[in-house]
Amino acid sequence: MSSTNSRPLALVTGASSGIGRAFALRLGALGYDLVVVARRGERLAEVAAQLPDVKVQALVADLGTLAGVEAVADVCAREPLSMLINNAGVAHYMPFTDLPADKASDLLHVKVVAPTMLARAAAPGMVARGEGTIVNVAGMLGFSGPATLERLPLRRAVYTATLAHIVALSQALHEELKGQGVRVQALCPGVVATEFHERQGFDLSAVPRMSADDVVTAGLRGLELGEVVCAPGVEQADLLETVFQADLAAFSGQSPQLATRYRPVS
Ligand SMILES: NC(=O)c1ccc[n+]([C@@H]2O[C@H](COP(=O)([O-])OP(=O)(O)OC[C@H]3O[C@@H](n4cnc5c(N)ncnc54)[C@H](OP(=O)(O)O)[C@@H]3O)[C@@H](O)[C@H]2O)c1
Repeated sequence: MSSTNSRPLALVTGASSGIGRAFALRLGALGYDLVVVARRGERLAEVAAQLPDVKVQALVADLGTLAGVEAVADVCAREPLSMLINNAGVAHYMPFTDLPADKASDLLHVKVVAPTMLARAAAPGMVARGEGTIVNVAGMLGFSGPATLERLPLRRAVYTATLAHIVALSQALHEELKGQGVRVQALCPGVVATEFHERQGFDLSAVPRMSADDVVTAGLRGLELGEVVCAPGVEQADLLETVFQADLAAFSGQSPQLATRYRPVS
């Protein structure tokens, strides 16, 4: 499975459709060899067929299981990856109290355990080689924590929380690895025209949506711009920086002393 000579190697999870497929096709066109991961092997074969001049290894794995995560992590640790695209995702859009435990577990494995463990497996080799890029696909909902139910009636807690995990993981990991040649990005699209919503029974075809190709274009350009959090649909580039500075202000505003409002009234 090793990459041939000078061609860099990228591993893309969730490459059987949508954003992951667009990443695979783009990176293949840019000269990368590929490891493409998903459960639908026939779809991965279609991606490979579209890239006849690229060495494409299809790895069928279910990232909703620990065994699947470990199988892909082994490849991340063993292969000289230049790029890891942690993109696979589901949302299981259901009210928290209706969400079956197995679906909650699947979601947490695909969106939290997998990106964390695949990055953990890939990073040491990247550090040793002094180069590498990890792109973790999150989403703008990761910033929606304070939104009310009235404002976002269809937002779901577990999926939203997984995106916030990916953003914080990417920011902290960027700081840890920035001096060692490894770039880390959280890629945060809004609504994208893929199979994502349709597969969970929602028809968002009437909603204005970004294309998967544009998301990939933003992610790759964002890397060139040095963006740790890339928001393809946010025009005002300093908006997220304002959010992060406010987060840091809250973080720095703490002290070991009990805040006055919590003290017993005497
Ligand atoms: N579409 C949006 O509006 C939107 C917005 C913000 C963020 N995102 C994020 O973008 C990422 C890509 O989603 P998309 O929009 O491209 O949706 P998509 O077209 O449904 O693609 C999802 C990909 O994830 C793979 N996947 C899902 N569960 C998996 C599992 N258990 N094991 C391995 N692979 C699995 C799917 O492959 P198989 O089914 O073949 O396994 C598929 O390739 C997701 O992480 C999502 O959270 C999407």
